[in-house]
Amino acid sequence: MNGYDVFALFYDASIERVYRPSRERVAETLRPDVGPSVLIPACGTGQDFAPLRTRLGGGSARLVGVDFSAGMLRRARKRVDREGWQNVTLVEADARTVDAEKLGPPFDHVVCSLALSVVPDWQRVVEHTFDQLRPGGQFTIFDVHADRRVAQTLCTEWIARADLSRKPWEPLENLSTRFTLDWQPGSPHLHGGRPFIATGFKRS
Ligand SMILES: C[S@@+](CC[C@H](N)C(=O)[O-])C[C@H]1O[C@@H](n2cnc3c(N)ncnc32)[C@H](O)[C@@H]1O
Repeated sequence: MNGYDVFALFYDASIERVYRPSRERVAETLRPDVGPSVLIPACGTGQDFAPLRTRLGGGSARLVGVDFSAGMLRRARKRVDREGWQNVTLVEADARTVDAEKLGPPFDHVVCSLALSVVPDWQRVVEHTFDQLRPGGQFTIFDVHADRRVAQTLCTEWIARADLSRKPWEPLENLSTRFTLDWQPGSPHLHGGRPFIATGFKRS
């Protein structure tokens, strides 16, 4: 059992409401004309699924969530079953190495939320999942960055085993074209840092 199997027990209750508006904005960042499939590395309990699914066409979207915590995926499975979604696949695997055989054909989108500030070896997650995008596909990161540290920064980092000093948008900026970085409404005293959405496209 890893730490996230335990965190899974109270993860939704602790953060679902705080980040719901940001997740809606993440979904709005996705260009539906790019295509209906999305890979969600380190998907956790699937809090992104509903807004992404709606944005990418409801029942015609294809969502694949990957996480290495069985506890998080159990919660995600409950969410999917409760909603009756037929088009969401959950894969228990390491996002740094999960192979195309488990994921299926290349994706139109990759969305990585609140993960790159916590996963070990996070640059590898960006590079490996960027490889799963088709040419022309869109890669989107939602996360929190702290350029000044307040009490909530330390609290968030301790609870989530996060490092909010990371700048996860930097490798995306190097890999992609039409890159944008947008700082979101939020406060270091609530989120530990400033929420941001970064997005870019794989060269065709
Ligand atoms: C803070 S949670 C974020 C979950 C979800 N993306 C969200 O927005 O709520 C971080 C997640 O990353 C997962 N994780 C960490 N390292 C991973 C790895 N190498 N491969 C797959 N999942 C990983 C954890 O199990 C956990 O579910």
